[in-house]
Amino acid sequence: MTRVLDLPAAGLVLLVGVSGAGKSTFAARHFRPTQVVSSDRCRAMVSDDENDQSATADAFELLHSVVDRRLRRGLLTVVDATNLHPHPRQELRRIAKKHCLPTAAVVLDLPADLIRERTRNRSDRVIDDDVTARQLHDLRRALRQLDQEKYRALHVLRTPEEVDAAVVRLVPLRCDRSDLRGPFDIIGDVHGCRAELEELLHRLGYRLRRDGQGRAVGAHHPDRTAVFVGDLVDRGPDSPGVLRLVMGMVADGDALCVMGNHENRLVRALRGRATRLSYGLQETLDQLGAETEEFRDRVLSFCAGLVDHYVLDGGNLVVAHAGLKEEYHGRSSGRVRAFALYGETTGEVDDYGLPVRLPWARDYRGRAVVVHGHVPASDTMWVNNTLCVDTGCVFGGKLTALRYPEREIVDVPAERVWYDRGRPLEPRS
Ligand code: CTP
Ligand code: MG
Repeated sequence: MTRVLDLPAAGLVLLVGVSGAGKSTFAARHFRPTQVVSSDRCRAMVSDDENDQSATADAFELLHSVVDRRLRRGLLTVVDATNLHPHPRQELRRIAKKHCLPTAAVVLDLPADLIRERTRNRSDRVIDDDVTARQLHDLRRALRQLDQEKYRALHVLRTPEEVDAAVVRLVPLRCDRSDLRGPFDIIGDVHGCRAELEELLHRLGYRLRRDGQGRAVGAHHPDRTAVFVGDLVDRGPDSPGVLRLVMGMVADGDALCVMGNHENRLVRALRGRATRLSYGLQETLDQLGAETEEFRDRVLSFCAGLVDHYVLDGGNLVVAHAGLKEEYHGRSSGRVRAFALYGETTGEVDDYGLPVRLPWARDYRGRAVVVHGHVPASDTMWVNNTLCVDTGCVFGGKLTALRYPEREIVDVPAERVWYDRGRPLEPRS
């Protein structure tokens, strides 16, 4: 019987265990040598002696430096050290967090008798019995602390059989769909404009599928995948209709969808959490009120499960609702999510009461094309390999798709002004 240990394919993995638990053996078996950063190796590198405890401070400085540089590149990094004490663990987790990557832990909690026997038989290292006893005590405390420390994954192996049966499975972060090569049709903020969306999909060559009541519940293209930049809902005439269609497409594998700030607010509202019913949320809730409870539940789990961004096409394409700066591509954290949903804002509001946004795209120097929505204007304009496809359909503009990799724009005019924003749509500048 194998035991599968899921670990993040990008991020930090802490091995935890006393001396002699088999951490280095485990690391050598499951990871490539360059993926493993060992405190003993670092000690040897700075002092020529793996066992020179006086070199510990230098060794950990080196270890942190290597971990920092690897995580900055988004590489899987396994720390082979006892990791029995909270402060060193916290320091390592801080580095992972700085790079917006998750941390997981694998604990080797083997029977004390076995540890003592192995330790006495070791030829590479002499460890006193009382050192082992103290470490075994520290491990008990560490096990309680690890539970509180919120790891992406925490695996505890308690017997040599469990250790032998372990198989590591590296799981890509949810945002990483670089395996999908497209071609894609990236569709801007729909905001409940169901008729325009149906027309746009038709123009893009998708074949709409309808249920017994004539409602669009899917759309398929033989060669292409649609990617929605989020803000499916609010302000427009038929947010449920848009959700029904997009949820069907996503379920059928005909579309991907990232979360917009409006889906985020809808999730809060549907969970009964206090949120202002402004910016069209009240209309959406009213429209959803006419739907079945089962449909509302599906909407909630769909919206709550949306990813904040996708990395597609081997890393050549990134889609996020409000765009994403390069250091956040393929990363996962609260900061990444906030940027992807809201962009970089100054915290101030303009004369219309709307947040003042920082022009991240003007500073963008990344290789990946970033396609996003969130900022409505009357047209689209490439800015340093980034494109905003929100052309304000709900405000009487148009609904826009970018064909990727062709870089063709396909758009459909709004049937009418569905929501008066109090100021006109302006061209991008
Ligand atoms: N060992 C073993 N069977 C295993 C794993 C390890 O007999 N399944 C033995 C190794 O051969 C070694 C000793 O146990 O002699 C310690 O294993 P190691 O992987 O080096 O343990 P670590 O946890 O890395 O110990 P340290 O913290 O001292 O580096
Ligand atoms: Mg070791």
